[in-house]
Amino acid sequence: MAPEIRRSLVLHSRLRRDPHALLRGMLDRVPPGTRPDAPVAELEQRIADLLGKPAALFFPSGTMAQQTALRVHADRTGRRVFAAHPHTHLAQWEEQGHQAVHHLLHRPVGDHHELITRDDLARVTEPLAALLLELPQRDIGGLLPEWDDLVAQTSWARERGAATHMDGARLWESQPYYDRPLAEIAALFDTVYVSLYKGLEGVRGAVLAGDRETIDLAALWRTRLGGALRDAWPLAVAGLIGLDEVLPRMGEFLAHARAIAAAVNADGYARTRPAVPQTSIFHVLLPVPRQVASAASLRLFRETGIELPVHARATGDPDRSALELSVGVAALEFTPEEVAALLRRLR
Ligand SMILES: Cc1ncc(COP(=O)(O)O)c(C=O)c1O
Repeated sequence: MAPEIRRSLVLHSRLRRDPHALLRGMLDRVPPGTRPDAPVAELEQRIADLLGKPAALFFPSGTMAQQTALRVHADRTGRRVFAAHPHTHLAQWEEQGHQAVHHLLHRPVGDHHELITRDDLARVTEPLAALLLELPQRDIGGLLPEWDDLVAQTSWARERGAATHMDGARLWESQPYYDRPLAEIAALFDTVYVSLYKGLEGVRGAVLAGDRETIDLAALWRTRLGGALRDAWPLAVAGLIGLDEVLPRMGEFLAHARAIAAAVNADGYARTRPAVPQTSIFHVLLPVPRQVASAASLRLFRETGIELPVHARATGDPDRSALELSVGVAALEFTPEEVAALLRRLR
């Protein structure tokens, strides 16, 4: 058994994923007589309304939702190529599912360490089924394109007959930066995937939103892929709790992320990327190799019961590593100075 976690700076800590506590919270949401299909229907409607889309569909995972969205766009346009950042989740974590299952090709655009720019897009000459933009771009420190860039890039795609798809795994966390209604951000995209378990801190699951025709086709693919779960209500209930209780706190999380980053940068041992976080997710650059940072994080946990992320990333500089911090409910328990002092111990 792993040691007991006393406090945690990890968004998906076991502390926040305690099945007993979760079930207690869910019981209040499921009064006697609740039909098994009701929570999913409510969730889909709530998210369609929030995003200003005519329809929305539950999926067991974002992986399935996004591959499906791209498949539908590709079939409609008769094109097989989608453009996305080199770090897109589809290229990094899905074992080339888009290619193996759907015969789609990923055209990487932009630099590995930077956001996609309009100039990067201008170099794409082949006709695209879709442009996929991830908000925020997680692997480079949760960076967001400025609003005008977002408008320019999505317009570029639409003018060329390509669909626009948002990897909105962390759209909820991106909204405070833009300070615009979710529906206004979503309007730039034909399809939007959102996650139920990242910022919303639910159990698992995803929702894909778009126009009625696209979502009907997505439902067909969801069945073909084995994702049409009849009893997805526990995941939907957890997602509804997230919408009610966690979504309204995204501004608070961003403010705390910024306070933590300011303390870390003032302390001077580590520094953050970006210097001022744009979302509640950001990177902490440590002056030690990643193996050293990971081992120190584990040691800190064993000695104190305080959990920090253990998977430090390589940065290209062998003497430096990056830790991703994601500020949610659990991280609010730590003062910014305390976080800076804990990170100083990663050496
Ligand atoms: C940016 C991004 N997109 C898509 C996904 C896929 O979500 P899921 O884990 O529900 O398949 C993830 C999951 O980490 C993600 O971070």
